[in-house]
Amino acid sequence: MGNKTLAIIKPDAVGNGYTGAIIDKIIKAGFKIKAMKMTHLTKSSAEGFYAVHTERPFFGELVEFMISTPCIPIALEKENAVEDYRKLIGATDPANAAEGTIRKLFAKDIQFNAVHGSDSDENALKEIAHFFSTDELLNNYSE
Ligand code: CMP
Repeated sequence: MGNKTLAIIKPDAVGNGYTGAIIDKIIKAGFKIKAMKMTHLTKSSAEGFYAVHTERPFFGELVEFMISTPCIPIALEKENAVEDYRKLIGATDPANAAEGTIRKLFAKDIQFNAVHGSDSDENALKEIAHFFSTDELLNNYSE
């Protein structure tokens, strides 16, 4: 069993039809999908999820973007999940993201940046719990 992280395929990437390509990159990078859903966030859910950014000047725009159309939260598992997933998606601003990263390939700018990724193991567990109950997570099983 590895560590967990929370990914979100954001409204821009879902709307642009990039969902399949992004999930393919995530799986090929060795992550296991523990839970996934397509959901249209409410304002209070988006505000709660991004509560740490409440005082930032972009908070209002960020919330409006995240509630504009559906997004896809995904709970992922892998050794070193948080760091490896952040490497896979690249810098927050796609202009600074490395070649081949998800944001370089699929994001438009720092706001419409295609995907979210947790920034620590502790926040990953909180963020997964924001979207999924324990019984929605795939349990390990022997085949
Ligand atoms: P995310 O990784 O989901 O975490 C916080 C989000 O805030 C970030 O991705 C961006 O979508 C958004 N964000 C961060 N900085 C800015 C900014 N300067 N202007 C607009 N949106 C931003």
